[in-house]
Amino acid sequence: METTPVTMEKIVSLAKRKGFIYPGSEIYGGLAGTYDYGPHGVALKNNIKTLWWKTFVSDRDDMYGIDAAILMNPKAWEASGHVAGFSDPLVECSACKGRFRADHLEDKNTCPSCGKKGTLGEARQFNMMFKTKAGAADDDSATVYLRPETAGGMFVNFKNVVDSFHPKLPFGLAQIGKAFRNEIAPRDFIFRLRELEQMEIEYFVDPRNADAVNAIFDAWFDRQIAFLKLLGLTESKMHKIDVPAEDRAHYSKRSVDTEFDFPFGQKELLGLAYRTDFDLSAHAKMSGENLTYLDEETKEKFVPHCIEPTFGLDRLVLAVLADAYREDELGGEVRTYLALSPRVAPIKAMVSPLLKNKPELVAKAEEVRKALRTVHPAIAWDDNGNIGKRYRRQDEIGTPFCVTIDFDTLGETPELKDTVTLRHRDTGAQERVTVAEAAARIREACVVG
Ligand code: GLY
Repeated sequence: METTPVTMEKIVSLAKRKGFIYPGSEIYGGLAGTYDYGPHGVALKNNIKTLWWKTFVSDRDDMYGIDAAILMNPKAWEASGHVAGFSDPLVECSACKGRFRADHLEDKNTCPSCGKKGTLGEARQFNMMFKTKAGAADDDSATVYLRPETAGGMFVNFKNVVDSFHPKLPFGLAQIGKAFRNEIAPRDFIFRLRELEQMEIEYFVDPRNADAVNAIFDAWFDRQIAFLKLLGLTESKMHKIDVPAEDRAHYSKRSVDTEFDFPFGQKELLGLAYRTDFDLSAHAKMSGENLTYLDEETKEKFVPHCIEPTFGLDRLVLAVLADAYREDELGGEVRTYLALSPRVAPIKAMVSPLLKNKPELVAKAEEVRKALRTVHPAIAWDDNGNIGKRYRRQDEIGTPFCVTIDFDTLGETPELKDTVTLRHRDTGAQERVTVAEAAARIREACVVG
C-alpha cells in the first residue's frame, strides 16, 4: 500500500543518506550542477552502463565501441556547429545581477530572484561549452572545449573505424562518457547537470532509400523503449514526443524524444535524432578528409547519414530511483524501500547469520556467501542489530533478496539442514530453500545472460 506521493526531497534525502548520490564538493558548500556518486550510486550506474553496453554493443555484430578523448581539436566543435550555436537564451537582472534562462521564466517581466519588475534585460545567446586551455600558451590559440556531447568523438573516428573494420552499412559507433554543459540554471538534482554522463550511438545508414532510413529510425525508438523496460521502468510513465522543427537541435532533421514522469513533471529522458550527413559532411569540409563510404557492390561513394539514439545516464539513474521509491506498511511498521529491478540493484542479496556471536552460524553464513558470490559478486554481509533492522536496511537500498542462516541450517531440525531463509524485498515474504535454490533464484533475477 503506497501511503504518500514520491517527492524529490525524499529521493534526494535517501540518495544521500544511503550512499547513492552526494552533492559535489559538499564540505566546501557544494558546486552547482555537480554531484558525486557514492558506493551504491556508482554500483547502480555501472549496472545500467553494463546493461547498455551489452544490449547495444556486445550483443550486436553491427556496433563498434569507442572511448574518445574528452578534449578534442576545437575545429571539431566549429565544424559541428557547437561554437556558433550551442547556446541557451540568457537574461540578466540589472538590480541583483542574477542570470536566468529566458525560456524558463514564468514571468518575463519579473526577476525570479529579487522579485523586482522591469529589471530583466534583453535575452542574449549564451554558449554552454566550457572553455579551457591546452598547453602552456595563454592566448586564444590554446583554447579547447570540454566536449558538450560524446557524439563528436565518434564522428571524428568514423574513418578510423571504417579503415580498421570495413563494416557494411548500416553500422554504428557507441560510446559512454562524460560531457560538460555550462548550464545557466542547473536544477532538479541530477536531471540538469554541468558535468554529466552520456551513452550515445551514432548509427550510420545508406541514405539512398528514405523508407529504409525511416524504418531504422523507428526501430531505434522501439529499442530505446525496450531498454527502459529492461531497467524496470514503468511503461505508462514513458511518453513519445515528436519534437517540432523549432525545438530540434541544429543538426537534426527529425527528433523523437522519450519523456518520463519524474516527480517534478514530464521531462526529456532520451533523445533520438536524424542527424543526416550534417556531421560527417561538416567534418569532411573542415578537416579536408574524405569521409565518404564506398558501396563495394555498386562502387558508388556517398556520405552516410546518421541516426543518433542518445541516453543521459544520470537522468536514467534518477528515473530508476524515483520510479522505484516506495513507502508501505510491513509487519505493522512503515517502511521505505526501492523496488529496483534486480538487474540494476547495487546489491543482489544480503547474507546474514541470525546471531553474530555464534561462531558456527557465522562460519556457515560465510560459506553460503562464498557460494552465492559465484553467481554474482554483489552479495553483501550484515550481522548488525536484529534481523528485522537488517532487512529494512537492505529494503532502503533496493536489495531484492536476503538470505538468513539459522540453527535449522545447521541441522537443529534435521529435515531443514542446509536450507536457508530467502526473504523477498517487495512483499517481505520468506521461504525455506536450499542454498542451491537460493543461488538459482538470484541468478534468474539478476544475471542478464
Ligand atoms: N548528442 C545529443 C545530445 O548530446 O543531446
